Amino acid sequence: MIEINHLNKTFTEKGSKVEAVRDVSLHIAKGQIYGIIGNSGAGKSTLVRCLNLLEIADSGDLRIGDQQLTFKNGRACQAGSGTPLSEKDQSRLRRSIGMIFQHFNLLDRSTVFENIAYPLRYTGMSRKEISERVDELLALVNLQDKRGAYPAQLSGGQKQRVAIARALANRPQILLSDEATSALDPDATESILNLLLNLNERLGLTIVLITHEMAVIKSIAERVAVMENGCVVEEGEVYDVFARPREEITRRFVASASALSRINKLLAEDSPMVRTKPGELLVKLTFTRESVGEAAISAISQKFGIAVNIVLASVEELRGVALGGLIAIFHGDAEQIQAALDYLIKDKVEVEVLRRG
Ligand SMILES: Nc1ncnc2c1ncn2[C@@H]1O[C@H](COP(=O)(O)OP(=O)(O)OP(=O)(O)O)[C@@H](O)[C@H]1O
Ligand SMILES: [Mg+2]
Repeated sequence: MIEINHLNKTFTEKGSKVEAVRDVSLHIAKGQIYGIIGNSGAGKSTLVRCLNLLEIADSGDLRIGDQQLTFKNGRACQAGSGTPLSEKDQSRLRRSIGMIFQHFNLLDRSTVFENIAYPLRYTGMSRKEISERVDELLALVNLQDKRGAYPAQLSGGQKQRVAIARALANRPQILLSDEATSALDPDATESILNLLLNLNERLGLTIVLITHEMAVIKSIAERVAVMENGCVVEEGEVYDVFARPREEITRRFVASASALSRINKLLAEDSPMVRTKPGELLVKLTFTRESVGEAAISAISQKFGIAVNIVLASVEELRGVALGGLIAIFHGDAEQIQAALDYLIKDKVEVEVLRRG
C-alpha cells in the first residue's frame, strides 16, 4: 500500500541545515496499523507530511496505492517518465489520504455538520448527498447527536471524532494520525484508539500512527518504526519490538510503557526489594508467545533446587497475545543458577541479569 524508499528531506533555515528525514525506507501493508515513534524533533511529522505531499521530499521514491512517485529537484514526479505531477494528480493523491492532528484543526465558527461537510464541497455532490454522507460519517464516529454543535461545545475526544469523520469524508484508503491522542486524557485516548482500531477493521483503513508514547503503539499498532535524528533505527512487529528491543532508544520507549519499569527506580534507590546477597542474582525474564504459559519457574526450582523470590511481575496483552515479564532474585548454588538460566534461554525465555550479589 505505502512503500517509502530512501526518502530524504532537509530544511534550510537561516543558513543552517536540518536533515529532518534521512534515507528512510518503510513498507506499510494495506489494512495495517503502522506506528511511528520517536522523540520530539525525530522527523515523524515531516516523514508523514511527505506521504501526502504537504512536504515535498528532496529525493527518494514513494508508492501510494497505484501511484509511483519519485522526488527530484524539489518536485514530485511520476516514476518512470519523470514528468512532474500535475495539480490534478496531486490533489487526487491528497484526497486518497486523510489526516488528523493533535489539536484537531476544526473550524471554530462552523458546526460539526459544516466541519465534516467541508472536504465534500466541489466534489460534484448535491446538498442532499452531502447531508446524507455527513450523517453516515456522524454515525461512523458515534456523534449523531452533535450535528449542530460548535467545536467549543465539544470535549477533546468529541472534537477528535469530528476530525476523524472529516478526514474520512472522501473515503480515503489511508489515514495519517499525527499525535491525535496527545492532547487527550487517558479515557478519551482509549476511546479514540478503539475507534481507530474499529475503523481499521470495518473499513480496511490503513492507518499510520505517529506518537511519542509507546502505550499508544502498544494498544493498537501491528508494526512499529522507531525514529531518531531523521532515521529509522529499528523496525518490526510491535510484539517483537516489545519482547526484544535492540536499540537503546527503543529500550527506553518500551520501558516507559512497561509495568516493570519501576525496577529502575528500585535499583537507583537501592531498595531492600532488589538487594542481593553474595551468590544471588537479580534477573529479568521475558516470556514471549514462544515461551509464555510454560511452568518455567516451578520447573527451574524443582530441577535445579533454586529459590525464586519475585520482585515484580506483569502480563501485558499486545493485540490479544500475552507478553509476560518477571523480575526475581535467584538464590542457590552458583552452578545450578547458571544451569537454570541456560534452561530458561533454551526454553525461549529472554533473560537479562540486572545485578549479581
Ligand atoms: N518547515 C520547517 N522548516 C525548518 N525546519 C523544520 C520544518 N519542519 C520541521 N523542521 C525541523 O525538522 C526536524 C524534524 O521535525 P518534525 O516536526 O518532523 O519532528 P517530529 O518528530 O514530528 O517532532 P514532534 O514530536 O515534536 O512533533 C526538527 O528539527 C524541526 O525543527
Ligand atoms: Mg510532529
